[in-house]
Amino acid sequence: MGEVLHFANVRRAFGDHQVLRGLSVDLPLDGVTFVVGKSGGGKSVLCRIGVGLLKPDSGEVTLLGERVDLAPERRLNDLRAKVPYVVQGHALLDWMTLEENVALATAPNAPSVDEVIERIGLNDFRTRKPSEVGPGLRKRAAIARALRLAPRAMILDEPTTGLDRQAADLVNATIAQVATLGVGVIAVSHDYRALEAIASRVVEVREGVVGYVGAPGPFLQREAHDG
Ligand SMILES: Nc1ncnc2c1ncn2[C@@H]1O[C@H](COP(=O)(O)OP(=O)(O)O)[C@@H](O)[C@H]1O
Ligand SMILES: [Mg+2]
Repeated sequence: MGEVLHFANVRRAFGDHQVLRGLSVDLPLDGVTFVVGKSGGGKSVLCRIGVGLLKPDSGEVTLLGERVDLAPERRLNDLRAKVPYVVQGHALLDWMTLEENVALATAPNAPSVDEVIERIGLNDFRTRKPSEVGPGLRKRAAIARALRLAPRAMILDEPTTGLDRQAADLVNATIAQVATLGVGVIAVSHDYRALEAIASRVVEVREGVVGYVGAPGPFLQREAHDG
């Protein structure tokens, strides 16, 4: 088994609302993993627990062999550099150019700003401010910034939600590109067309547990039958 983000019997409630009900899954840190499931079903909660932004009520979370749920904050910062969590919305600094935003993140052995910008296709937009480009470009700049951490993988929470088809396609192409650079992507996404085109595997969160884990093909077939 390669490197994974491992969840074992994870439970998490808010008040008396049980969101995760003993969820177990291994999310590989290579290729492209799509995390799907109903809105409000706990996908973001799962991501946040995965990088230690939220504690499970019980269960174990292990990233690269290290217990996330037990890690002190200082270790969590290291783990979040290895697997950054790119939140929904872009979280860029509005007063800086895209290039300056990308330059903000850095790590030992980080690829250069120029290299990242080139790879993600931001060259023509590097001196623009976030407000001067569309949401798809902002998302791609956030992905570029995460790449500057020289991560093993990154978690993208709904990277294409709210984008028009063309912008979404470019973000999905960026996701595929990130994976070809050897950086795995775990993406929460409802985009079944992209799922078919670029996902290595699918994990469905359903009623607080994993409803499906496996290849995209059988998942899409099942969805087509279940409606
Ligand atoms: N910090 C929080 N406080 C209270 N309830 C929360 C909190 N975070 C998430 N929830 C609830 O947990 C459930 C799952 O949320 P979420 O993981 O964001 O769903 P999604 O699958 O759409 O990402 C929702 O009912 C949401 O309202
Ligand atoms: Mg969410």
